[in-house]
Amino acid sequence: MGCGPAEYHHLMDAPQLKTALPGPRAKALIERDSAVVSPSYTRSYPFVMARGIGAAVEDVDGNVFLDCAAGIAVNSTGHSHPDVVAAIIDQAQKFLHMSGTDFYYEPQVRLAEEMNGLAPFQGPKRSFFSNSGTEANEAAIKLARYHTKRYGIIAFLGSFHGRSLGALSLTSSKAIQRRGFGPPLSGVYHAPFPNPYRRPKGQSEDACAAAALDFIEEQILVHLVSPDEVAAVVVEAIQGEGGYIVPPAAFHQRLRDLTAKHGIMLVVDEVQSGMGRTGRMFGIEHFGVEPDVVTVAKGIASGLPLGVTTSRAEFMAWPPGAHASTFGGNPVSCAAALATIKLLRESLIANAAAVGDHLMDTLRALQDKHRLIGDVRGKGLMIGIELVKDRDTKERATRERDRLVDECFARGLLVLGAGRNTLRLSPPLVLTKQEADTAVRIIDESLSAMA
Ligand SMILES: Cc1ncc(COP(=O)(O)O)c(C=O)c1O
Repeated sequence: MGCGPAEYHHLMDAPQLKTALPGPRAKALIERDSAVVSPSYTRSYPFVMARGIGAAVEDVDGNVFLDCAAGIAVNSTGHSHPDVVAAIIDQAQKFLHMSGTDFYYEPQVRLAEEMNGLAPFQGPKRSFFSNSGTEANEAAIKLARYHTKRYGIIAFLGSFHGRSLGALSLTSSKAIQRRGFGPPLSGVYHAPFPNPYRRPKGQSEDACAAAALDFIEEQILVHLVSPDEVAAVVVEAIQGEGGYIVPPAAFHQRLRDLTAKHGIMLVVDEVQSGMGRTGRMFGIEHFGVEPDVVTVAKGIASGLPLGVTTSRAEFMAWPPGAHASTFGGNPVSCAAALATIKLLRESLIANAAAVGDHLMDTLRALQDKHRLIGDVRGKGLMIGIELVKDRDTKERATRERDRLVDECFARGLLVLGAGRNTLRLSPPLVLTKQEADTAVRIIDESLSAMA
């Protein structure tokens, strides 16, 4: 779990609950929050953070939780990893900001060199810097339109690409995220995302992938938009907010073939699945496909805001002034990202693969005991547990999923939902096997309490 200051040592043994939840200090802060903070945020349960280390977090009342949410898949190196904190302090003492848009500084250049080296496609590359996932996708949408001189964008049902108006027009995870903000960007078309768990009985995984691609070829590109007016297909390697859905192996390969055939740019959104979370640097590497652009944010800087859009160099040939951001590529965020990448390379990607396999095996074993668990899926430490009322009909157990999230919290485990009825595990990539076993024990106990 890393070697934090002595006052953090009691966090090593998560969870430890000391008060009823929420405790008095948490209650007081939530009350203040509810009076002054935008009510649009989606808080599932009353956790009020005080500090954290590794995969353990302590609330303001001294309760210690095991964190399998990681601030929505962000704290990749664990909370306040000493190497990341040291890199942040070192950079902060030199300078905090100088706008990489107007001036030059080494951390941004070094990070571009790193990201161009890591991006999962051959040839020369360039990187654009922003502050978040939605901005990384916004840049990809603008780049695709600029480069191809086409307007159309194809995205997938259930996808999440962000909440700024361009990215939101691609997002189709939950209607509430779009409700009241229309009309969305025109020229955006949605295709079904292939879901192996919910494919019709008797359909092969290949046929499941083919059905989604046929919808693009036979419906969208025939009835709605001519292929020569489509700038990009934007797709998550593994669908995140939509329910941690791993598409069939053939899907991304055929999507690559289809986009190449029509001169359409393939943008893979790795905001949630990237930076080691799946046991590879990028989720798309599991599928052996080389996209044209990848977008990352979340885990790249261990918690500091940063978005990166990395493209084939020949596609990122826009002139000065075409796109920029005052804060994008902030030097402190870049320093945190460089330290994060070093840790990912040295050990954490391998840890995500090994502990992820272990976690998946132990969760699958729980399926024998709990009929509610319809499916356990994922890659590395990006794991979804889909709850169903009936394994034959696969009726979605949404209320049960919400209750499971609450029961886990009550026992000291932080998890989040994804999609309508899936529990997601997106812990820091430092999670140990022992901590993984603790998480499974709590999920097991929570499900038993609900039976
Ligand atoms: C796949 C994906 N893309 C984009 C985003 C948006 O990122 P942000 O909230 O940093 O704008 C998210 C956030 O959940 C995401 O999961």
